[in-house]
Amino acid sequence: MSQRFSTDVLIIGGGAAGLAAALHLADTARVTVLAKGEPSSGSSFWAQGGIAAVLDDADRFAFHEADTMKAGADLCDRETVRLMVREAPDVIRELSTWGVDFDKEDNQLHLTMEGGHSHRRVAHIADATGREITQKLSEKVLDHHNIEIFHDRMAIDLINLNKVNGYPSACAGAHVLNTSTDRVEVFQAKAVVIATGGASKVYLYTSNPDGSTGDGIAMAYRAGCRVANMEFNQFHPTCLYHPHAGSFLISEAVRGEGGILTSAKGHRFMPRYDERAELAPRDIVARAIDQEMKKKGLDCVYLDISHRSPDFIKSHFPNIHEQCQRLGIDITQEPIPVVPAAHYTCGGVLVDADGRTDLNMLFAIGEVAYSGLHGANRLASNSLLECLVHAKRASKAIKPRLEHNFELPYVPKWDESRVKDADESIMVSHNWDELRRFMWDFVGIVRTDSRLERAKRRIDLLNQEVSEHYAKYRISSDLIELRNLLQVANLIVRSAMMRKESRGLHFNLDHPKTLDKPENTLLSTGSIRDF
Ligand code: FAD
Ligand code: SIN
Repeated sequence: MSQRFSTDVLIIGGGAAGLAAALHLADTARVTVLAKGEPSSGSSFWAQGGIAAVLDDADRFAFHEADTMKAGADLCDRETVRLMVREAPDVIRELSTWGVDFDKEDNQLHLTMEGGHSHRRVAHIADATGREITQKLSEKVLDHHNIEIFHDRMAIDLINLNKVNGYPSACAGAHVLNTSTDRVEVFQAKAVVIATGGASKVYLYTSNPDGSTGDGIAMAYRAGCRVANMEFNQFHPTCLYHPHAGSFLISEAVRGEGGILTSAKGHRFMPRYDERAELAPRDIVARAIDQEMKKKGLDCVYLDISHRSPDFIKSHFPNIHEQCQRLGIDITQEPIPVVPAAHYTCGGVLVDADGRTDLNMLFAIGEVAYSGLHGANRLASNSLLECLVHAKRASKAIKPRLEHNFELPYVPKWDESRVKDADESIMVSHNWDELRRFMWDFVGIVRTDSRLERAKRRIDLLNQEVSEHYAKYRISSDLIELRNLLQVANLIVRSAMMRKESRGLHFNLDHPKTLDKPENTLLSTGSIRDF
């Protein structure tokens, strides 16, 4: 028997955005949070550098806004940037009241520096900011009588009431796979918040955990919402290059605190590419590294912080120091081998500054959303900031809408009558690998029209196979994620093909110029019906 749950607000995602929204809502509403794994399944847990906010007397909101707009290559929404930047100091204070213990120096917050910032403004907890935030928020959520959290639930698709029996379009919950029992359950709610994070797992090499498969973007798109600017995939310049490293990031703060990038022969190259050298925004640094590696046939480049004292390095970057040491690299004495890897999905479900999507009662917050804060390239440490401001603003927008005492209509359960168990899993695992490899090769840091066309042809083929499999066999978590990754890859490639210029993170050799007028790329199924 599949189960049916009912709640006021269903939050899909247990990272910084989802957990913070749950805490903001729970004083007046019953909240259910779903996650498809433990807290480390989301990127929030792994965040290193910190959260950007104007907290120093010499800094100004106008400077943070200007840095954000410049990094975003003129595609940011000015009003959203203004709101987010101005609300940033408050969310840092709020985190402190929730028990997050930011690093201090002489009784003041210690602020670190990162690429693209004109001032020191990144509040942090050594190099493990995300772990501390996720742990503190999780503890508070677990303690709250009005919040229920499930760590073994994977949302499959959103429920749009107009598909049920002729109601006006509105989101009323989700069909969800219970990964412990393999049964599909119905979660009904008056409002739904998707906080499922990004989609960087669509690339072969990524700094992200396995859960970043773009589920929320794919679900919202299928439900009829518009998605925006999916061609802007951020590649972090410095992920550890080592056969046993998995996906381990070397924080941008290492460059912020003086780290120098060199090629194999120890030559510093960044000053040739940008006057800000190692502290240029990520799109510029990642492209420069890519070019150096291709030109010189290198497997990696090197990031050297060994000129700082061992005490400084160990106290500011204890986790990076320890992880490298474990792999035989002493970063106090030698440079760190690094390569770029997919890191952040700048595009996403189109929302306003309160997280409202095109579908009534559906909100999207955090990395899954496109709010206009990041434009064509996100400024370092502006993501956790967006998660927290968005969580607060969306909660405020949701609360008054829960006051009406409406009855939810009956939503049919998942129909499994025409599917059978899959006899083998090779189709899923093969296509998963193939997709991530051609996305890396053809839709990576540098693109061309013919590479994009190649990728599109392969996506169309995989789409056919996966759709057939989806219609025929019982659902599994791998199949759900593959279907979503494929949907996201399709959105990325179609968006990239539509942009006939190079801007921010999207660089196409066939269209190297930046057009005068910045335009958003919007895609939708156009299927939201209102009565
Ligand atoms: P996530 O934290 O990714 O959480 C997503 C949640 O959704 C998870 O709980 C997951 O289980 C759940 N989920 C996903 N799909 C489903 C589904 N179908 N059903 C149910 N649950 C689902 N940004 C900064 O601002 N500063 C930094 O210092 C920084 N460092 C970073 C370092 C690393 C290594 C990485 C990978 C990212 C970093 N970022 C940083 C980016 C930032 O961490 C993320 O953008 C941000 O944490 C995203 O938060 P989120 O809550 O939107 O999603
Ligand atoms: C980092 O620490 O380099 C990651 C910061 C970010 O992604 O904003």
